[in-house]
Amino acid sequence: MPAILDDVSAEILELKKKLGATILAHYYQEGEIQALADVTGDSLKLAREATKVDSPVIVFCGVLFMAETAKMLNPSKTVLLPDLQAGCSLVDACPADKLAAMQERLRINGRKFQTVCYINSSAKVKALSDWVVTSGNAIEVVRDKVPPGYEILFVPDKHLGRYVQEVTGREMILWDGSCMVHEIFSVADLLEQKKKHPTARTIAHPECPKNILDLADFAGGTEAMIKHVGTFAEPTQFLVATEANMMWELERRHPRHTYIGVAGVTCACNKCPHMARNTLEKVRDCMKNRWPEILWQPEFDKAKEVLARSLLNPPITAPVHPMGD
Ligand code: 13P
Ligand code: SF4
Repeated sequence: MPAILDDVSAEILELKKKLGATILAHYYQEGEIQALADVTGDSLKLAREATKVDSPVIVFCGVLFMAETAKMLNPSKTVLLPDLQAGCSLVDACPADKLAAMQERLRINGRKFQTVCYINSSAKVKALSDWVVTSGNAIEVVRDKVPPGYEILFVPDKHLGRYVQEVTGREMILWDGSCMVHEIFSVADLLEQKKKHPTARTIAHPECPKNILDLADFAGGTEAMIKHVGTFAEPTQFLVATEANMMWELERRHPRHTYIGVAGVTCACNKCPHMARNTLEKVRDCMKNRWPEILWQPEFDKAKEVLARSLLNPPITAPVHPMGD
């Protein structure tokens, strides 16, 4: 929390008290938003923390699929999202009707499969899936929960799917989606940066393509990266291949190290434009207006079941009617 608050931040804290709100913020939000949050985290941590909130209002500083997840896991709460247009390129890559058609084709062809969707997907896609995973639990769910003998239709992130396939050795059919931020890291620039900082360790999010992960010393989800960095007792340089605002949390938690962002091919800042739609002013205004609010949609009923059995720990139960059967 900054020692002297700017006017908008002070207003947000006032409104928070007045509404009885809890602010959850993803690590990809600007530092000034993270500084005001009650809880910061990756998708998995925030989904789990959302179930523990006892205030009537959740202000979700992240993108739409994350706020929807918080609503599905807390139907009785008011969930506010500062900007309803804060989407995600992975969500856009997998329309539910296209997924349903693909599942139908696989069934007609006699394929025995289960559908595993990344949490970066619409509620309709979640409702069509057997399991929902995040970067934090994908390996565990695929390894421990999808019964042997089933192929896996993994949607929508082909890079995360490929990585999970490599680690678990499970047969996968990969959807052709990707994260517009993690896909554009430049191999040439990373090689150059490694040459310039020969002792630096490279850490990368598994939403990055294989050519970047192959150059990394450590690949792991957001929370895993923070933990990994914490295992280095001596000040160390890290080349970081993930969304740039992550550096705020890395510096806050482990300030003894130096963090250098890996450059992108088309955009050197590596900030997610969807996350960037949320500003302090919009956080304030959504609290003032109690709008935009995530309203219950019919598909939330089924998606909520899939989310709960996949992410809430314990219990993770088996699907009653695996979609691929
Ligand atoms: P995690 O928060 O699960 O690491 O996901 C990264 C991401 O790109 C979120 O949109
Ligand atoms: Fe989606 Fe990528 Fe932005 Fe995350 S960083 S919200 S995966 S576009």
